[in-house]
Amino acid sequence: MFERLKPVGMDPILALMAAFRADDRTNKIDLGVGVYQDDRGRTPVMASVKEAEAQLMALETTKAYQGIAGDPDYNQRILQLLFGADHSILDSGRIKTIQAPGGSGALRVGAEVIVRARPDAKLWVGVPTWPNHIPLLGSAGVNIEEYPYYNLNDHQIDVDAMMTTLAQVPAGDMVLLHGCCHNPTGADLSNEQWDQIADLALERGFIPFIDTAYQGLGDGLDEDAYGIRMMADRLPELVIASSCSKNFGLYRERTGSITFVTDTSEQADIVASQAMAVARQTYSMPPAHGALLVSLILGDQQLRANWETELTEVRTRIQSMRNLLADNIQQNAAGIDFSHIKQQKGMFSFLGLNTDQLDQLREDHGIYIVSSSRVNLAGINSGNIGYLSDSIVSVLG
Ligand code: LMR
Repeated sequence: MFERLKPVGMDPILALMAAFRADDRTNKIDLGVGVYQDDRGRTPVMASVKEAEAQLMALETTKAYQGIAGDPDYNQRILQLLFGADHSILDSGRIKTIQAPGGSGALRVGAEVIVRARPDAKLWVGVPTWPNHIPLLGSAGVNIEEYPYYNLNDHQIDVDAMMTTLAQVPAGDMVLLHGCCHNPTGADLSNEQWDQIADLALERGFIPFIDTAYQGLGDGLDEDAYGIRMMADRLPELVIASSCSKNFGLYRERTGSITFVTDTSEQADIVASQAMAVARQTYSMPPAHGALLVSLILGDQQLRANWETELTEVRTRIQSMRNLLADNIQQNAAGIDFSHIKQQKGMFSFLGLNTDQLDQLREDHGIYIVSSSRVNLAGINSGNIGYLSDSIVSVLG
């Protein structure tokens, strides 16, 4: 049966995570996988999540199956988080959300529905993007095309090249966009650029597929949803994959959702039935625990306020680590300008180091950075910033 199979290499981000865990140096630093760490280098369970867990322990009366679409209350609350409580789309009948196993599960369900809807459609993906986007979406059978996104030389979005390519996307194709906190570059679309892409989508007839995994880690919960909310106002169709891994710290609980905005309410019902068929034929039903916690937090005024305070601390800490790192490594023999790190958003930025420099950082200094030179700024803390900055400056020559 299995004799013809060849081994497959591990995903580069997860391989780096395993290598970091196996390293027994005490001064090692993990700037790899996108997981938040506090100033003591820990990834604690948020206090609001702990409190919700205590309530859930007391409240939960059954572990019986929940249903293919997951928890209806969670789905409703996620819609309100994504769009704001008063967005007109919520009462339009043109929108459906189903709970999915994490942001990745959501992307997969979205991709499978796209293939069912329009097998010839292409999905245009920015370069670079999260390294798992293309394997995950492509292996669902979606045809992938690329559009330029980021210029490594000036560390800015390559706006002209991006818009020129998007202006040629045919009607019925889809364009993958990052809702906020672009992974891996940290270079987010401005509100004006979101507006311009919406203009193009209307003009050309393409459909945005928005992956939003970091709402609240960029500028704030509402600010980070600008593109989603504006596009739902203006466009007939939209697909949104969202995740609670980062903003609720629920990584291993696999808590996400997939949302479809359709032209008519009849289509919304049909699309939801297709998404549920995909779910049933793959994982059957999503895991319950994380979604029940999110539902409890968003449904309770005090818990929600506590969670928002914690999320603000996360966002502020990452921004201060951005500033600190950029300032510390700005003086370097190679004369490289790192000021882009201060302007970018969310967990990631590119350092722009080459493979030799990254190997040297890992082997000689125990500093783990993925091969694109994407750093997770949340891995920096007051205890390691000095050593980290000195090490980076030293490999720059
Ligand atoms: C990352 O990009 O590091 C995270 O989204 C984790 C992952 O699954 O790759």
